[in-house]
Amino acid sequence: MTYKIVTLAGDGIGPEILEASLAVLEKVAAQIRLNYEIIPCDFGGVAIDKHGVPLPEETLNAAKKADAILHGSIGDPKFDSETIRPEQGLLAIRKELGLFANIRPLKVYDALKSISPIKNVDEVDFIVIRELTGGIYFGEHRLDENEAHDSCTYTREEIERVARVAFELARTRRKKVTSIDKQNVLATSKLWRSVVTEVGKDYPDVELVHQLVDSAAMLLITNPKQFDVILTENLFGDILTDEAAAIAGTLGVMASSSIGDSTALYEPIHGSAPDIAGQGIANPIGMIMSVAMMLESSFGEKEAALKIEQAVEQTLADGILTKDLGGGATTAEIRDAIIARL
Ligand code: NAD
Ligand code: IPM
Ligand code: MN
Repeated sequence: MTYKIVTLAGDGIGPEILEASLAVLEKVAAQIRLNYEIIPCDFGGVAIDKHGVPLPEETLNAAKKADAILHGSIGDPKFDSETIRPEQGLLAIRKELGLFANIRPLKVYDALKSISPIKNVDEVDFIVIRELTGGIYFGEHRLDENEAHDSCTYTREEIERVARVAFELARTRRKKVTSIDKQNVLATSKLWRSVVTEVGKDYPDVELVHQLVDSAAMLLITNPKQFDVILTENLFGDILTDEAAAIAGTLGVMASSSIGDSTALYEPIHGSAPDIAGQGIANPIGMIMSVAMMLESSFGEKEAALKIEQAVEQTLADGILTKDLGGGATTAEIRDAIIARL
């Protein structure tokens, strides 16, 4: 079996971190005799430049036929005032592939515990399930000179299917789901809370706690170890996971998988980091751990994923750190250090 992996390098630091992660994949694949083929496709700002659209037809077709998709990052300030933007490609591929659940684990590496701005991060270990194909991202957006409008919709079915992902995951962990909403104000959140409560009845062994998003933002900092599986809607999940990254010490180590109706997509949670792009100093660990998630979830290679995680942990423990973590190592140096520890 030869796995087909579509790669979407994208913009900014995307190509830099993707290159590093593919080198790590190559090393591990040789060790476990995993055969794969890389199919690079245009995506994001580079695709707008070449094809006029951020998600060209050929890219979408290749993605649909792939066994897994790896995405670096998209976004470029040069499109800030354009109507066609790289971000639309990312939303479109998520929607087209039905990737309704975005799984964002928070891993606090031992070596980064002293770097984390949070004092006590021992025992902090949670996973955020972010709904990814609904909510305000996919409602109507209208902008006039004096008025703007964004609409937010959720259906029962959209909430139920992502809730099931969270409850199933909680069963394999500490059996607690914290569902985050704004039901004191939003109609979509009222439906969210009632559907999640209903789904929860099918999982009597899993504790369900509801939390309003504003206080949840505070609790993430003051008492993060209470969380096991966090379930939330699209926009709240986007914001809260960047906040969670602060606990880890940097956005640069946060990985994710997006699952749903077809081929899964793996990507770090950060963006194209235009402020450091092209300098070779981006932290590739979020992308590398996304490759580890791919190996485990799409190819069933749990051991290989664990080996990558251990090599990352060891690299950090040896003090080989990129600038976002206060070090001076380049992307290539982190890549080589991880490969050497494999
Ligand atoms: P960002 O995540 O790109 O950067 C935020 C800060 O974190 C910057 O200072 C950046 O240098 C730093 N950072 C991020 N990733 C890093 C890494 N791997 N190593 C070291 N430092 C890292 O967020 P932003 O600046 O708000 O957005 C920039 C662009 O990225 C925008 O166009 C946005 O739309 C896009 N974006 C894309 C994705 C994606 O492709 N999935 C995600 C978020 C933002
Ligand atoms: C992310 C990003 C995207 C999102 C943007 C680029 C559309 O921030 O993947 O977290 O908001 O989903
Ligand atoms: Mn984001």
